[in-house]
Amino acid sequence: MDRLEKALEKSRQQRAALEAEQAERSERLVSASVGAAPIVASDSQELDEGMLEQNRIVAHRTRSPEADVYRQLRTKVLQIMKASGFKALAITSPNYKDGKTTVSVNLGISIALDLKQSVLLVDLDLRKPSLDQYLGLKTQYGLTDYLKNDKPLKDCLTRPSFERVSVLPAGSSLDNSSELLISPKMISLAQEIKNRYPDRIVIYDLPPVLLQDDPVAFMPQIDAVLVVVRDGVTKPEDLKRCLGSLSRANVIGTVLNNCW
Ligand SMILES: Nc1ncnc2c1ncn2[C@@H]1O[C@H](COP(=O)(O)OP(=O)(O)OP(=O)(O)O)[C@@H](O)[C@H]1O
Ligand SMILES: [Mg+2]
Repeated sequence: MDRLEKALEKSRQQRAALEAEQAERSERLVSASVGAAPIVASDSQELDEGMLEQNRIVAHRTRSPEADVYRQLRTKVLQIMKASGFKALAITSPNYKDGKTTVSVNLGISIALDLKQSVLLVDLDLRKPSLDQYLGLKTQYGLTDYLKNDKPLKDCLTRPSFERVSVLPAGSSLDNSSELLISPKMISLAQEIKNRYPDRIVIYDLPPVLLQDDPVAFMPQIDAVLVVVRDGVTKPEDLKRCLGSLSRANVIGTVLNNCW
């Protein structure tokens, strides 16, 4: 009887501690959004598993070697980001088709599987957007509509049915993208989405470094960069030139893609 009472008391204490932690967490979120509209999408879209498979979006799977690779990457990236208080991560590569969007989406999903972490995926490939398509999301507006046409941000965001993942698609594509990326409105948005929620990582899917000036132009808004290298395709001199262009950025690692 005595043991039973002790066990019950222990479970009461654990529940009280958990409730206190949850209350503190939601208070932090609420106080962080006081004075401005929350930067989260309200709707959530169911995703089609067939579409995800076709687009090599695999990080949500269990008992999957491919998902485990992303979990390993996630853990390394989060350790570095947390140790340094980094919130904004950019994914880029030397050339087209190296796997930037695939890595961005999978890494984002994998990070958000961590219960303490939420993720905002931002498509900054404004000339050739694809992030929303890779998830099979139906989107009406995106970043360019917010920046150029004053669409409210909440109408530009969308939420796939993965817990704790939000997406800011690129919106209608355009050609003078680097000018838009360094506009005061974009800079202030980048600051806002980085600082609004304490537990959220922002992942930017960028265009390739050797073909557009957008990645270098946007680097001042970025805390850390991952460079995707395509196994057997990326030339060593291209990687060298890419890293040279990013010499003032904080490159935290390279991701060797196309290994599976
Ligand atoms: N590890 C992989 N194995 C096989 N195919 C892959 C792998 N990673 C990506 N791909 C495929 O390669 C193509 C290009 O990938 P992705 O779109 O992610 O590259 P990207 O660098 O974002 O391209 P872009 O420069 O056009 O934006 C896609 O069809 C994708 O499904
Ligand atoms: Mg891409």
